[in-house]
Amino acid sequence: MLELSLSWLGLGPVAASPWLLLLLVAASWILARVLAWIYAFYDNCCRLRCFPQPPKRSWFWGHLGLAKWQRLALEGSTRLDMFEHFSLMTLDSLQKCVFSFDSDCQEKPSEYIAAILELSALVTKRIEQIFLHADFLYYLTPDGQRFYRACRLVHDFTDAVIQKRRHTLISQGSQEFLKTKTKAKTLDFIDVLLLAKDEDGKGLSDEDIRAEADTFMFEGHDTTASGLSWIMYNLAKHPEYQERCRQEVQKLLRNREPKEIEWDDLAQLPFLTMCIKESLRLHPPVAVISRRCTQDVVLPDGRVIPKGNICVISIFGIHHNPSVWPDPEVFNPFRFDPEASQKRSPLAFIPFSAGPRNCIGQTFAMNEMKVALALTLLRFRVLLDEEEPRRKPELILRAEGGLWLRVEPLNTGQ
Ligand code: HEM
Repeated sequence: MLELSLSWLGLGPVAASPWLLLLLVAASWILARVLAWIYAFYDNCCRLRCFPQPPKRSWFWGHLGLAKWQRLALEGSTRLDMFEHFSLMTLDSLQKCVFSFDSDCQEKPSEYIAAILELSALVTKRIEQIFLHADFLYYLTPDGQRFYRACRLVHDFTDAVIQKRRHTLISQGSQEFLKTKTKAKTLDFIDVLLLAKDEDGKGLSDEDIRAEADTFMFEGHDTTASGLSWIMYNLAKHPEYQERCRQEVQKLLRNREPKEIEWDDLAQLPFLTMCIKESLRLHPPVAVISRRCTQDVVLPDGRVIPKGNICVISIFGIHHNPSVWPDPEVFNPFRFDPEASQKRSPLAFIPFSAGPRNCIGQTFAMNEMKVALALTLLRFRVLLDEEEPRRKPELILRAEGGLWLRVEPLNTGQ
């Protein structure tokens, strides 16, 4: 599994060596944490509030695809597979935030986006074919060849952006580069990585930057698309909560034209946030994670998990533990009102995992889901389709045959 993820980052058969793997995992971990630190530092300085830029038309609305929904509804297709639409939307907005690139992939085919989708599908398929885990065998198969070609395409795209940007950075100098970008609010993830330095003033290599950017694209699209799809389903199933969320958004934006969400609005949607969290509890996009114990772990009943063992941790199981979550199958957003949350262990709800290797994109994901949900509910009513979706746990939690819902445009004059 680890090897598979790493081969996505472009590591060929050489990655089969356990020492190299270990080194790479450590290097990528350190990088991710350095980035988290840089993010926190810049955020404190209020600089990185422009990464991603405040969720305004410039980067998000245009990438939300709701105009497409309006058009499809006018043409009479109100039955939509949420996974398909939200995957394109999350890829579109990630490509904008990471590379400042407008792919318009929700409206027209994009080679790059098709390659990312193909890689995700191939990784899922390969995990189930244990005899193809060895790279040298995999690359002999047609799927392996497709994987190789898609990887190449994705890497070439990322490399081209990095080289062009590094060239600008060198010709402008870092101070001027940062000043121009923050002023124009166009600082993206590639810029942040290019400007990052360790304590000795050493920056990241192009390969490091490519690995981080590609990881973001890979980790950030399916997960958020799954989160959003299941939120829509839960709100379609509970129209009373859907209406309450809608009213909260309408009240927040009542005197505003155009109706866009500003950065500070994200903290002003308490009920909508409670619904998102309850949906992430009931349908966690990442249902299972694994960890290798670096020391003996003593359980409360005295039993010991010996050092070196790999433990599979079920986020889904933790979120459905009836001693923590009474009636665990019931969608009840009030479980997340601030008072109730305070009484629970922080480890009772871990959709983004916990500890030093938790999700580095969780704030990004929460913000994206809030904006997408708020703007969707403002313009559409979401209704259940005839068939109940069946959960399909793969690398992320999907629905068998897609998650189909019906959408009805509201008469908002939007
Ligand atoms: C609802 C959306 C999301 C969910 C539920 C989610 C969940 C998770 C979980 C559970 C992990 C830990 C995996 C493990 O321990 O093996 C993780 C890791 C990670 N996530 Fe997310 N994620 C989401 C969105 C995002 C986004 C939008 C990004 C980037 C923009 C992102 C980037 C990452 C990265 C880079 C890691 C690896 C961190 C490390 O290994 O140190 N995620 N995510």
